[in-house]
Amino acid sequence: MGKVKQILIMIFIVLAVSGASNVDQLHKWRKSMSSGASSSSGVSRVGSSVIFQLYGNVYPNGFYFVQVFVGHPPRPYFLDPDTGSDLTWLQCDAPCVHCTKGFHPLYRPTNDLVVCRDPLCASLHSSDYRCDDNPEQCDYMVEYADGGSSLGVLVNDLFTLNLTSGVRIFPRLTLGCGYDQLPGVSDHPLDGVLGLGKGKSSIVSQLSDQRVVKNVVGQCLSGKGGYLFLGEDVYDSSRITWTPMSRDHTKHYAAGSAEFFFDGKSTGIKNLNVIFDSGSSYTYFNSQIYHSLISSIKKGLSRKLREATDDRTLPFCWKREKPFESIRDVNKYFKPLALRFPNGRKAKPQFEIPPEAYLIISSKGNACLGILNGTDIGLDNLNMIGDISMQNKMLIYDNEKQAIGWTAANCDQPPSSNRATL
Ligand SMILES: *[C@@H]1O[C@H](CO)[C@@H](O)[C@H](O)[C@H]1NC(C)=O
Ligand SMILES: *[C@@H]1O[C@H](CO)[C@@H](O)[C@H](O)[C@H]1NC(C)=O
Repeated sequence: MGKVKQILIMIFIVLAVSGASNVDQLHKWRKSMSSGASSSSGVSRVGSSVIFQLYGNVYPNGFYFVQVFVGHPPRPYFLDPDTGSDLTWLQCDAPCVHCTKGFHPLYRPTNDLVVCRDPLCASLHSSDYRCDDNPEQCDYMVEYADGGSSLGVLVNDLFTLNLTSGVRIFPRLTLGCGYDQLPGVSDHPLDGVLGLGKGKSSIVSQLSDQRVVKNVVGQCLSGKGGYLFLGEDVYDSSRITWTPMSRDHTKHYAAGSAEFFFDGKSTGIKNLNVIFDSGSSYTYFNSQIYHSLISSIKKGLSRKLREATDDRTLPFCWKREKPFESIRDVNKYFKPLALRFPNGRKAKPQFEIPPEAYLIISSKGNACLGILNGTDIGLDNLNMIGDISMQNKMLIYDNEKQAIGWTAANCDQPPSSNRATL
């Protein structure tokens, strides 16, 4: 796939970093390095939300990020919001063994360690994980599908969050102090990951356990950024298209059994497992649907376009006599795609993917296909909707109702309900 810049932070496998290895010394916590701070807001405010502005784009950046304030006094960090994984972690001076270059100085952790017996620690390890070797701390390791990983220790620290009610709160939350990172293919210069998955350690689960917000994550991506929210008071549920969240996937936000449509017509490809992963820039379809898509595109291609084999931005690019200037130009030449989901009713919820949500304009002015072959990266039974196809939609993962919802939206205009301060 050449220079494909993909952020494939998903399928995260948490390995038991159990003791008895020769790197054990590194895992030992250095209390002398840290300064403490602790106090919890303890205030119950369910009904409010937290909104973060998103920065970045699918191309050329290849990633989106949010600014999050952590510590006491609060310091800013740029984090990769990832609905495909749970743990939030920062590159951390514990001291750091391997850190990649981030925007900000490394996080200096508190000495507020999460003990091994903590349920959040257990949720990141397999059930046979033993706490005998190091009961006073919780080591973690998170691996991402792009080959990257983070290894570290869990700590508690204060986050600074603005609620849509106008109140600022300082909840004490668990995060990873990552002192040994391996960069993946998607080598982006961020300070860490904001874990938004459905597991117990995810930020939204923790905030919902503390009754700060409902266990709901939403995002709205555009070519210029967009916004992300935690909680449910920024949208009107009756205007959202909902489909049940599949329970077969414990790690991902998944909607099962979709049918694939090309240009308004069924392709006959049904029962697709679909996951939504904001940690991935591009969309991945398994080989069967990918093959069908490419032949459909080629069949329906305008005579004005030719394949641009000299453009290696992505595996398939097409050129027009006059280079494409704006992504809006592609709508004339390419057909819309759609996934139709079950919901038990006659009118099945449809997730539209217009050309703008599956093509990018490369630096050479060609239109390149931002849907990639999932079988190539081991996603055989899964189809993954990445950032590119989520653009210009509000997407909502409601863990309370176990539903995934979406609606067309202008993502450059953050919701203004309840005096949202951005
Ligand atoms: C909260 O809102 C204030 C005022 O708009 C802003 O200055 C501050 O940076 C925000 N804090 C966070 C953590 O987003
Ligand atoms: C997708 O990738 C798989 C594995 O690399 C390959 O066998 C298959 O031919 C590819 N499909 C298409 C349509 O390119």
